[in-house]
Amino acid sequence: MRNLLAETAERATRYITDIQRRSVVPRPDDLARLEVLGGPLPEAPSDPTETLALLDDVGSPATVATTGGRYFGFVIGGTLPAALAANWLAGAWDQNAAMQVMSPVAAKLEEVVMAWMLDLLGLPSGSGAGVVTGTTMANFSALAAARCALLKRAGWDPEEDGLFGAPPIKVVVGDEVHVSVLKALTMLGLGRSRLTRVPVDGQGRMRPGALPALDDRTLVCMQAGNVNTGAFDPAEKICDRAHEAGAWVHVDGAFGLWAAVSPNYASLLGGVGDADSWAIDCHKWLNVPYDSGVAVVREPEHLRRAMSAGSAAYLAQAAGREPWQYTPDSSRRARGVELWAAMRSLGRSGLRELIERNCRQAKQFAERLRQAGFSILNDVVLNQVLVSFGSADETRRIIAAIQTDGTCWCGGTEWQGHTAMRISVSCWATTDEDVERSAAAMIRIAKEVTS
Ligand SMILES: Cc1ncc(COP(=O)(O)O)c(C=O)c1O
Repeated sequence: MRNLLAETAERATRYITDIQRRSVVPRPDDLARLEVLGGPLPEAPSDPTETLALLDDVGSPATVATTGGRYFGFVIGGTLPAALAANWLAGAWDQNAAMQVMSPVAAKLEEVVMAWMLDLLGLPSGSGAGVVTGTTMANFSALAAARCALLKRAGWDPEEDGLFGAPPIKVVVGDEVHVSVLKALTMLGLGRSRLTRVPVDGQGRMRPGALPALDDRTLVCMQAGNVNTGAFDPAEKICDRAHEAGAWVHVDGAFGLWAAVSPNYASLLGGVGDADSWAIDCHKWLNVPYDSGVAVVREPEHLRRAMSAGSAAYLAQAAGREPWQYTPDSSRRARGVELWAAMRSLGRSGLRELIERNCRQAKQFAERLRQAGFSILNDVVLNQVLVSFGSADETRRIIAAIQTDGTCWCGGTEWQGHTAMRISVSCWATTDEDVERSAAAMIRIAKEVTS
Protein backbone atom coordinates (compact mmCIF):
# COMPACT_ATOMS: atom_id res chain seq x y z
CA MET A 1 0.00 0.00 0.00
CA ARG A 2 2.74 2.46 1.01
CA ASN A 3 4.64 2.08 -2.29
CA LEU A 4 1.46 2.20 -4.33
CA LEU A 5 0.28 5.44 -2.70
CA ALA A 6 3.75 7.01 -2.88
CA GLU A 7 4.02 6.20 -6.57
CA THR A 8 0.49 7.47 -7.20
CA ALA A 9 1.37 10.74 -5.45
CA GLU A 10 4.43 10.97 -7.67
CA ARG A 11 2.38 10.41 -10.81
CA ALA A 12 -0.36 12.84 -9.77
CA THR A 13 2.21 15.49 -8.95
CA ARG A 14 3.79 15.05 -12.37
CA TYR A 15 0.35 15.44 -13.99
CA ILE A 16 -0.29 18.69 -12.13
CA THR A 17 3.19 20.14 -12.79
CA ASP A 18 3.04 19.27 -16.49
CA ILE A 19 -0.44 20.64 -17.03
CA GLN A 20 0.66 24.18 -17.90
CA ARG A 21 2.97 22.85 -20.62
CA ARG A 22 0.63 20.39 -22.32
CA SER A 23 -2.14 20.90 -24.85
CA VAL A 24 -5.46 21.63 -23.15
CA VAL A 25 -7.13 18.97 -25.30
CA PRO A 26 -5.84 15.44 -25.82
CA ARG A 27 -4.12 14.67 -29.13
CA PRO A 28 -5.80 12.19 -31.51
CA ASP A 29 -3.14 9.50 -30.87
CA ASP A 30 -3.68 9.87 -27.09
CA LEU A 31 -7.39 9.25 -27.67
CA ALA A 32 -6.67 6.28 -29.91
CA ARG A 33 -4.57 4.70 -27.13
CA LEU A 34 -7.63 4.61 -24.84
CA GLU A 35 -8.44 1.28 -26.53
CA VAL A 36 -5.64 -0.19 -24.40
CA LEU A 37 -7.79 0.28 -21.28
CA GLY A 38 -10.42 -2.12 -22.65
CA GLY A 39 -10.22 -5.68 -23.83
CA PRO A 40 -11.45 -8.67 -21.84
CA LEU A 41 -11.57 -8.44 -18.06
CA PRO A 42 -8.43 -10.14 -16.68
CA GLU A 43 -9.11 -13.56 -15.19
CA ALA A 44 -6.60 -13.17 -12.38
CA PRO A 45 -5.55 -10.40 -9.99
CA SER A 46 -2.49 -8.33 -10.85
CA ASP A 47 -0.18 -5.92 -9.11
CA PRO A 48 -2.13 -2.70 -8.30
CA THR A 49 1.01 -0.67 -9.13
CA GLU A 50 0.84 -1.96 -12.67
CA THR A 51 -2.87 -1.07 -12.91
CA LEU A 52 -2.13 2.46 -11.70
CA ALA A 53 0.77 2.81 -14.12
CA LEU A 54 -1.49 1.85 -17.03
CA LEU A 55 -4.16 4.28 -15.86
CA ASP A 56 -1.66 7.12 -15.70
CA ASP A 57 0.29 6.29 -18.85
CA VAL A 58 -2.81 5.93 -21.00
CA GLY A 59 -5.44 7.85 -19.06
CA SER A 60 -3.61 11.06 -18.11
CA PRO A 61 -2.78 12.15 -21.70
CA ALA A 62 -6.44 11.58 -22.66
CA THR A 63 -7.77 13.98 -20.04
CA VAL A 64 -8.90 17.51 -20.84
CA ALA A 65 -6.72 19.91 -18.84
CA THR A 66 -9.68 21.51 -17.09
CA THR A 67 -7.72 21.89 -13.89
CA GLY A 68 -5.01 23.95 -15.62
CA GLY A 69 -5.07 27.69 -16.16
CA ARG A 70 -6.17 27.84 -19.80
CA TYR A 71 -9.49 26.04 -19.84
CA PHE A 72 -12.36 28.49 -20.31
CA GLY A 73 -15.18 26.18 -21.40
CA PHE A 74 -18.63 25.82 -19.79
CA VAL A 75 -18.17 27.03 -16.18
CA ILE A 76 -15.47 24.75 -14.86
CA GLY A 77 -13.13 25.41 -11.98
CA GLY A 78 -9.88 23.62 -11.20
CA THR A 79 -8.86 22.05 -7.92
CA LEU A 80 -7.15 24.10 -5.24
CA PRO A 81 -4.05 22.40 -3.77
CA ALA A 82 -5.59 22.02 -0.31
CA ALA A 83 -8.83 20.68 -1.78
CA LEU A 84 -7.01 18.10 -3.89
CA ALA A 85 -4.88 16.96 -0.97
CA ALA A 86 -7.96 16.75 1.27
CA ASN A 87 -9.68 14.73 -1.43
CA TRP A 88 -6.82 12.20 -1.33
CA LEU A 89 -7.01 11.95 2.43
CA ALA A 90 -10.78 11.61 2.27
CA GLY A 91 -10.28 8.80 -0.24
CA ALA A 92 -8.13 7.02 2.31
CA TRP A 93 -10.74 7.62 4.99
CA ASP A 94 -13.52 6.24 2.72
CA GLN A 95 -16.20 7.71 4.91
CA ASN A 96 -19.93 7.39 4.34
CA ALA A 97 -21.24 10.88 5.07
CA ALA A 98 -24.88 9.86 5.42
CA MET A 99 -25.08 9.76 9.20
CA GLN A 100 -23.17 11.04 12.21
CA VAL A 101 -22.64 7.51 13.50
CA MET A 102 -20.99 6.50 10.21
CA SER A 103 -18.62 9.46 10.17
CA PRO A 104 -18.51 12.00 12.99
CA VAL A 105 -15.80 13.95 11.18
CA ALA A 106 -17.80 14.18 7.92
CA ALA A 107 -20.91 15.32 9.83
CA LYS A 108 -18.92 17.91 11.76
CA LEU A 109 -17.17 19.27 8.67
CA GLU A 110 -20.51 19.70 6.90
CA GLU A 111 -21.79 21.75 9.81
CA VAL A 112 -18.66 23.89 9.83
CA VAL A 113 -18.63 24.54 6.08
CA MET A 114 -22.34 25.26 5.98
CA ALA A 115 -21.91 27.98 8.59
CA TRP A 116 -18.86 29.42 6.80
CA MET A 117 -20.63 29.38 3.46
CA LEU A 118 -23.80 31.07 4.69
CA ASP A 119 -21.64 33.77 6.24
CA LEU A 120 -19.44 34.21 3.14
CA LEU A 121 -22.41 34.38 0.77
CA GLY A 122 -24.58 36.60 2.97
CA LEU A 123 -27.35 34.01 3.34
CA PRO A 124 -29.51 33.71 6.48
CA SER A 125 -27.50 32.06 9.25
CA GLY A 126 -30.22 29.67 10.42
CA SER A 127 -30.79 28.14 6.98
CA GLY A 128 -30.79 24.39 6.37
CA ALA A 129 -28.39 22.97 3.82
CA GLY A 130 -27.60 19.74 2.03
CA VAL A 131 -24.29 18.89 0.39
CA VAL A 132 -25.02 17.41 -3.03
CA THR A 133 -23.31 16.68 -6.34
CA GLY A 134 -23.75 20.06 -8.02
CA THR A 135 -26.26 22.74 -8.88
CA THR A 136 -28.61 20.42 -10.75
CA MET A 137 -29.18 18.41 -7.57
CA ALA A 138 -29.08 21.55 -5.44
CA ASN A 139 -31.86 23.03 -7.60
CA PHE A 140 -33.74 19.74 -7.32
CA SER A 141 -33.43 19.59 -3.53
CA ALA A 142 -34.31 23.23 -2.90
CA LEU A 143 -37.23 23.14 -5.33
CA ALA A 144 -38.51 19.97 -3.64
CA ALA A 145 -38.51 21.96 -0.39
CA ALA A 146 -40.37 24.79 -2.14
CA ARG A 147 -42.96 22.39 -3.56
CA CYS A 148 -43.45 20.86 -0.15
CA ALA A 149 -43.85 24.24 1.57
CA LEU A 150 -46.23 25.70 -1.01
CA LEU A 151 -48.47 22.63 -1.07
CA LYS A 152 -48.48 22.31 2.72
CA ARG A 153 -49.67 25.89 2.86
CA ALA A 154 -52.51 24.93 0.52
CA GLY A 155 -53.50 22.09 2.86
CA TRP A 156 -51.87 19.29 0.84
CA ASP A 157 -49.12 16.97 2.06
CA PRO A 158 -47.10 15.93 -1.01
CA GLU A 159 -44.75 13.69 0.97
CA GLU A 160 -47.69 11.62 2.26
CA ASP A 161 -50.20 11.94 -0.55
CA GLY A 162 -48.09 12.44 -3.67
CA LEU A 163 -48.98 14.86 -6.45
CA PHE A 164 -52.10 13.28 -7.99
CA GLY A 165 -55.00 15.59 -7.14
CA ALA A 166 -52.74 18.20 -5.52
CA PRO A 167 -53.60 21.88 -5.94
CA PRO A 168 -51.61 23.37 -8.85
CA ILE A 169 -48.43 25.35 -8.26
CA LYS A 170 -47.62 28.18 -10.63
CA VAL A 171 -43.94 28.18 -11.62
CA VAL A 172 -42.36 31.36 -12.96
CA VAL A 173 -38.93 31.40 -14.60
CA GLY A 174 -36.94 33.92 -16.62
CA ASP A 175 -36.65 33.29 -20.34
CA GLU A 176 -32.95 32.66 -19.72
CA VAL A 177 -33.52 29.98 -17.07
CA HIS A 178 -30.72 27.42 -16.93
CA VAL A 179 -31.68 23.99 -18.24
CA SER A 180 -30.79 22.41 -14.89
CA VAL A 181 -33.73 24.23 -13.28
CA LEU A 182 -36.01 22.87 -15.98
CA LYS A 183 -34.61 19.40 -15.38
CA ALA A 184 -35.22 19.72 -11.65
CA LEU A 185 -38.79 20.96 -12.21
CA THR A 186 -39.40 18.05 -14.56
CA MET A 187 -38.12 15.51 -12.04
CA LEU A 188 -40.34 17.10 -9.39
CA GLY A 189 -43.48 16.61 -11.47
CA LEU A 190 -43.91 20.35 -12.00
CA GLY A 191 -43.58 20.03 -15.77
CA ARG A 192 -41.85 22.08 -18.41
CA SER A 193 -44.75 23.31 -20.53
CA ARG A 194 -46.74 24.66 -17.56
CA LEU A 195 -44.10 27.28 -16.76
CA THR A 196 -44.65 31.01 -17.11
CA ARG A 197 -41.60 32.48 -18.80
CA VAL A 198 -40.73 36.10 -18.07
CA PRO A 199 -39.08 38.14 -20.86
CA VAL A 200 -35.48 39.22 -20.29
CA ASP A 201 -33.35 42.20 -21.28
CA GLY A 202 -30.28 42.27 -23.52
CA GLN A 203 -28.10 40.75 -20.77
CA GLY A 204 -30.57 37.96 -19.99
CA ARG A 205 -31.96 39.55 -16.80
CA MET A 206 -35.62 38.98 -15.97
CA ARG A 207 -37.69 42.13 -16.47
CA PRO A 208 -39.40 42.46 -13.08
CA GLY A 209 -42.14 44.64 -14.62
CA ALA A 210 -43.10 41.65 -16.78
CA LEU A 211 -43.67 39.28 -13.84
CA PRO A 212 -47.16 37.73 -13.99
CA ALA A 213 -49.63 37.92 -11.10
CA LEU A 214 -48.11 36.03 -8.16
CA ASP A 215 -49.79 34.38 -5.21
CA ASP A 216 -48.98 32.11 -2.29
CA ARG A 217 -48.90 29.08 -4.54
CA THR A 218 -46.29 30.54 -6.88
CA LEU A 219 -42.69 29.47 -7.17
CA VAL A 220 -40.40 32.07 -8.77
CA CYS A 221 -37.04 30.77 -10.01
CA MET A 222 -34.49 33.49 -10.52
CA GLN A 223 -30.86 33.36 -11.47
CA ALA A 224 -27.70 34.86 -9.99
CA GLY A 225 -25.15 34.56 -12.78
CA ASN A 226 -26.30 33.86 -16.32
CA VAL A 227 -24.22 31.08 -17.88
CA ASN A 228 -23.59 33.19 -21.00
CA THR A 229 -23.37 36.78 -19.77
CA GLY A 230 -22.81 36.44 -16.01
CA ALA A 231 -25.77 38.82 -15.46
CA PHE A 232 -27.98 38.65 -12.36
CA ASP A 233 -31.77 38.80 -12.23
CA PRO A 234 -32.84 41.82 -10.15
CA ALA A 235 -33.29 40.03 -6.84
CA GLU A 236 -34.53 42.90 -4.74
CA LYS A 237 -37.45 43.72 -7.02
CA ILE A 238 -38.32 40.07 -7.60
CA CYS A 239 -38.21 39.18 -3.88
CA ASP A 240 -40.27 42.24 -2.93
CA ARG A 241 -42.99 41.42 -5.47
CA ALA A 242 -42.96 37.72 -4.66
CA HIS A 243 -43.04 38.08 -0.91
CA GLU A 244 -45.84 40.64 -0.99
CA ALA A 245 -47.86 37.90 -2.67
CA GLY A 246 -46.62 35.09 -0.41
CA ALA A 247 -44.71 33.40 -3.26
CA TRP A 248 -41.48 31.41 -2.84
CA VAL A 249 -38.28 32.68 -4.51
CA HIS A 250 -35.56 30.22 -5.48
CA VAL A 251 -32.15 31.40 -6.70
CA ASP A 252 -30.03 29.38 -9.11
CA GLY A 253 -26.72 30.83 -8.03
CA ALA A 254 -24.43 28.12 -9.39
CA PHE A 255 -21.37 30.29 -9.79
CA GLY A 256 -22.72 33.85 -9.43
CA LEU A 257 -23.45 33.63 -5.72
CA TRP A 258 -19.71 33.37 -5.01
CA ALA A 259 -19.39 37.01 -6.10
CA ALA A 260 -20.92 37.86 -2.70
CA VAL A 261 -17.45 37.46 -1.18
CA SER A 262 -16.39 40.73 -2.80
CA PRO A 263 -18.02 44.07 -1.97
CA ASN A 264 -17.30 45.06 -5.60
CA TYR A 265 -20.30 43.01 -6.67
CA ALA A 266 -22.78 44.11 -4.01
CA SER A 267 -24.82 46.00 -6.58
CA LEU A 268 -25.30 42.85 -8.69
CA LEU A 269 -26.30 40.73 -5.71
CA GLY A 270 -28.58 43.16 -3.88
CA GLY A 271 -31.59 41.34 -2.44
CA VAL A 272 -30.36 37.80 -3.23
CA GLY A 273 -30.26 36.99 0.48
CA ASP A 274 -33.99 37.77 0.75
CA ALA A 275 -34.95 34.67 -1.25
CA ASP A 276 -36.25 31.43 0.26
CA SER A 277 -33.80 28.95 -1.24
CA TRP A 278 -30.53 28.89 -3.16
CA ALA A 279 -28.53 26.43 -5.26
CA ILE A 280 -24.75 26.80 -5.26
CA ASP A 281 -21.97 24.98 -7.06
CA CYS A 282 -18.66 24.33 -5.34
CA HIS A 283 -16.86 22.53 -8.17
CA LYS A 284 -17.13 25.73 -10.19
CA TRP A 285 -15.81 28.86 -8.53
CA LEU A 286 -14.80 27.44 -5.15
CA ASN A 287 -12.45 25.15 -7.11
CA VAL A 288 -12.98 21.88 -5.25
CA PRO A 289 -12.84 18.54 -7.09
CA TYR A 290 -15.93 17.15 -8.80
CA ASP A 291 -18.62 16.71 -7.72
CA SER A 292 -19.84 19.23 -5.20
CA GLY A 293 -22.77 21.60 -4.68
CA VAL A 294 -24.99 22.87 -1.90
CA ALA A 295 -28.76 23.36 -1.54
CA VAL A 296 -29.72 26.01 1.00
CA VAL A 297 -33.24 26.59 2.32
CA ARG A 298 -34.13 29.45 4.66
CA GLU A 299 -36.47 27.29 6.76
CA PRO A 300 -34.49 24.06 7.38
CA GLU A 301 -37.64 22.12 8.14
CA HIS A 302 -38.93 22.47 4.56
CA LEU A 303 -35.77 20.84 3.20
CA ARG A 304 -35.72 18.19 5.89
CA ARG A 305 -39.34 17.27 5.28
CA ALA A 306 -38.85 17.12 1.50
CA MET A 307 -35.80 14.88 1.86
CA SER A 308 -37.04 12.70 4.70
CA ALA A 309 -37.01 8.95 4.13
CA GLY A 310 -39.30 7.90 6.96
CA SER A 311 -37.70 5.63 9.48
CA ALA A 312 -36.01 2.24 9.54
CA ALA A 313 -35.22 0.50 12.79
CA TYR A 314 -31.53 0.03 11.99
CA LEU A 315 -30.97 3.69 11.01
CA ALA A 316 -31.12 5.23 14.48
CA GLN A 317 -31.07 9.03 14.43
CA ALA A 318 -28.60 10.89 16.60
CA ALA A 319 -29.39 14.19 18.25
CA GLY A 320 -28.53 17.15 16.02
CA ARG A 321 -28.15 17.37 12.27
CA GLU A 322 -28.13 14.11 10.34
CA PRO A 323 -26.63 14.89 6.89
CA TRP A 324 -28.80 12.46 4.89
CA GLN A 325 -31.97 14.18 6.07
CA TYR A 326 -31.06 17.15 3.86
CA THR A 327 -30.11 15.40 0.62
CA PRO A 328 -31.80 13.16 -1.99
CA ASP A 329 -29.21 10.44 -1.52
CA SER A 330 -28.36 8.43 1.57
CA SER A 331 -24.88 6.90 1.32
CA ARG A 332 -22.51 9.40 -0.24
CA ARG A 333 -18.92 10.53 -0.11
CA ALA A 334 -17.72 13.15 2.36
CA ARG A 335 -17.72 16.25 0.13
CA GLY A 336 -17.50 18.48 3.20
CA VAL A 337 -13.84 17.49 3.59
CA GLU A 338 -12.75 19.34 0.44
CA LEU A 339 -15.11 22.25 1.08
CA TRP A 340 -13.55 22.71 4.49
CA ALA A 341 -9.98 22.48 3.15
CA ALA A 342 -10.68 24.89 0.28
CA MET A 343 -12.34 27.52 2.47
CA ARG A 344 -9.90 27.17 5.34
CA SER A 345 -6.82 27.37 3.14
CA LEU A 346 -8.07 30.38 1.16
CA GLY A 347 -9.61 32.24 4.02
CA ARG A 348 -12.02 35.06 3.33
CA SER A 349 -9.41 37.24 1.63
CA GLY A 350 -8.03 34.41 -0.52
CA LEU A 351 -11.46 33.59 -1.86
CA ARG A 352 -12.16 37.24 -2.52
CA GLU A 353 -8.83 37.54 -4.38
CA LEU A 354 -9.70 34.50 -6.53
CA ILE A 355 -13.12 35.86 -7.49
CA GLU A 356 -11.86 39.37 -8.18
CA ARG A 357 -8.86 38.11 -10.17
CA ASN A 358 -11.02 35.92 -12.45
CA CYS A 359 -13.42 38.82 -13.04
CA ARG A 360 -10.52 41.12 -13.86
CA GLN A 361 -9.15 38.47 -16.23
CA ALA A 362 -12.52 38.27 -18.00
CA LYS A 363 -12.24 42.02 -18.63
CA GLN A 364 -8.64 41.50 -19.80
CA PHE A 365 -9.90 38.99 -22.41
CA ALA A 366 -12.66 41.35 -23.53
CA GLU A 367 -10.23 44.22 -23.90
CA ARG A 368 -7.69 42.24 -25.96
CA LEU A 369 -10.35 40.83 -28.28
CA ARG A 370 -12.06 44.19 -28.70
CA GLN A 371 -8.72 45.81 -29.52
CA ALA A 372 -8.22 43.13 -32.18
CA GLY A 373 -11.51 44.21 -33.79
CA PHE A 374 -13.90 41.56 -32.51
CA SER A 375 -17.29 42.24 -30.91
CA ILE A 376 -17.95 41.59 -27.24
CA LEU A 377 -21.66 40.83 -26.99
CA ASN A 378 -22.18 41.16 -23.23
CA ASP A 379 -21.45 43.66 -20.50
CA VAL A 380 -18.55 41.93 -18.78
CA VAL A 381 -19.85 42.28 -15.22
CA LEU A 382 -18.47 39.02 -13.84
CA ASN A 383 -16.32 36.19 -15.22
CA GLN A 384 -18.15 35.50 -18.51
CA VAL A 385 -17.29 36.94 -21.93
CA LEU A 386 -19.21 36.45 -25.18
CA VAL A 387 -17.26 37.19 -28.35
CA SER A 388 -18.35 37.22 -31.96
CA PHE A 389 -15.63 36.89 -34.59
CA GLY A 390 -17.91 38.05 -37.43
CA SER A 391 -20.59 35.99 -39.16
CA ALA A 392 -22.07 32.89 -37.49
CA ASP A 393 -20.10 30.68 -39.85
CA GLU A 394 -16.80 32.49 -39.23
CA THR A 395 -17.35 32.37 -35.48
CA ARG A 396 -18.09 28.64 -35.58
CA ARG A 397 -15.03 27.89 -37.70
CA ILE A 398 -12.80 29.94 -35.40
CA ILE A 399 -14.17 28.21 -32.28
CA ALA A 400 -13.46 24.81 -33.87
CA ALA A 401 -9.90 25.87 -34.74
CA ILE A 402 -9.28 27.23 -31.21
CA GLN A 403 -10.52 23.95 -29.76
CA THR A 404 -8.12 21.85 -31.83
CA ASP A 405 -5.14 24.20 -31.41
CA GLY A 406 -4.80 23.24 -27.73
CA THR A 407 -3.45 26.50 -26.30
CA CYS A 408 -6.77 27.03 -24.54
CA TRP A 409 -10.35 25.77 -24.81
CA CYS A 410 -13.62 27.69 -25.20
CA GLY A 411 -17.09 26.54 -26.21
CA GLY A 412 -19.70 28.09 -28.46
CA THR A 413 -23.20 29.36 -27.81
CA GLU A 414 -26.09 31.26 -29.36
CA TRP A 415 -26.84 34.52 -27.65
CA GLN A 416 -30.03 36.40 -28.56
CA GLY A 417 -29.69 35.61 -32.25
CA HIS A 418 -25.89 35.79 -32.45
CA THR A 419 -23.39 32.95 -32.62
CA ALA A 420 -20.69 33.52 -30.04
CA MET A 421 -17.74 31.98 -28.27
CA ARG A 422 -18.02 31.79 -24.48
CA ILE A 423 -15.03 32.54 -22.28
CA SER A 424 -15.60 31.57 -18.67
CA VAL A 425 -12.77 32.41 -16.27
CA SER A 426 -13.35 30.26 -13.21
CA CYS A 427 -10.07 28.62 -12.28
CA TRP A 428 -7.80 29.49 -9.36
CA ALA A 429 -4.76 28.54 -11.49
CA THR A 430 -5.39 31.04 -14.29
CA THR A 431 -2.65 33.66 -14.40
CA ASP A 432 -2.65 36.94 -16.30
CA GLU A 433 -0.01 35.35 -18.50
CA ASP A 434 -2.43 32.50 -19.32
CA VAL A 435 -4.97 35.10 -20.39
CA GLU A 436 -2.46 36.97 -22.58
CA ARG A 437 -1.25 33.74 -24.15
CA SER A 438 -4.79 32.48 -24.77
CA ALA A 439 -6.03 35.81 -26.16
CA ALA A 440 -3.02 35.95 -28.49
CA ALA A 441 -3.80 32.42 -29.71
CA MET A 442 -7.46 33.30 -30.29
CA ILE A 443 -6.52 36.40 -32.30
CA ARG A 444 -3.87 34.55 -34.32
CA ILE A 445 -6.26 31.66 -35.09
CA ALA A 446 -9.12 34.02 -35.99
CA LYS A 447 -6.85 35.78 -38.51
CA GLU A 448 -5.61 32.48 -39.95
CA VAL A 449 -9.15 31.11 -40.36
CA THR A 450 -10.48 34.21 -42.08
CA SER A 451 -7.43 35.09 -44.21
C1 LIG B 1 -26.48 29.02 -13.81
C2 LIG B 1 -26.22 27.54 -13.75
N1 LIG B 1 -27.11 26.74 -13.14
C3 LIG B 1 -26.93 25.41 -13.06
C4 LIG B 1 -25.82 24.80 -13.60
C5 LIG B 1 -25.68 23.29 -13.51
O1 LIG B 1 -24.66 22.97 -12.63
P1 LIG B 1 -24.13 21.46 -12.44
O2 LIG B 1 -23.58 21.05 -13.77
O3 LIG B 1 -23.10 21.58 -11.39
O4 LIG B 1 -25.27 20.61 -12.02
C6 LIG B 1 -24.87 25.59 -14.26
C7 LIG B 1 -23.69 24.98 -14.90
O5 LIG B 1 -22.95 25.63 -15.59
C8 LIG B 1 -25.07 27.00 -14.31
O6 LIG B 1 -24.18 27.81 -14.90
